[in-house]
Amino acid sequence: MAKLPILLYPDPRLHTVAAPVVRVNDDIRNLINDMGETMYAAPGVGLAATQVNVHLRIIVIDTSPTRDELLAFVNPELIAASGEADFDEGCLSVPGIYEKLRRAQNIRVRALGIDGQPFEWAAEGLQAVCIQHEMDHLEGKVFVEKLSRLKQQRILAKIKKRQREDSHPAK
Ligand code: NI
Repeated sequence: MAKLPILLYPDPRLHTVAAPVVRVNDDIRNLINDMGETMYAAPGVGLAATQVNVHLRIIVIDTSPTRDELLAFVNPELIAASGEADFDEGCLSVPGIYEKLRRAQNIRVRALGIDGQPFEWAAEGLQAVCIQHEMDHLEGKVFVEKLSRLKQQRILAKIKKRQREDSHPAK
């Protein structure tokens, strides 16, 4: 297992649309394990392959309080969505930024599991929001891009300021 580097917004590679996984083989299972390790170490509740610069349709999440229920979805498809949920969202690719977004409260997803078998998964609340957030990454979308132009500009300015400070630390 290995921890993988996470792409940081506004890295243009985060805008890549991920390709479907053709076969869930050992390479894919190793990638899923590495993504899990990377997510737990960060720490985060979800990670899309896009964020580790692998442009395949794979997401992992764990919204359990005990942090021991890793869920992996290969080629996830949203097959039902209902209700509305407002959560403060964050993203490992946009560290330190949290913004409220509205998403579906209840969803149903079809995907392949780590065994390559299709399954359906129903999620609600935080877990549903997390899955929707990660599925957006596979479309090359970062959550801040759902915010108003003004908010996006403020976030970009904040990130640029932080990068400048990081490259020229105050003495
Ligand atoms: Ni994210």
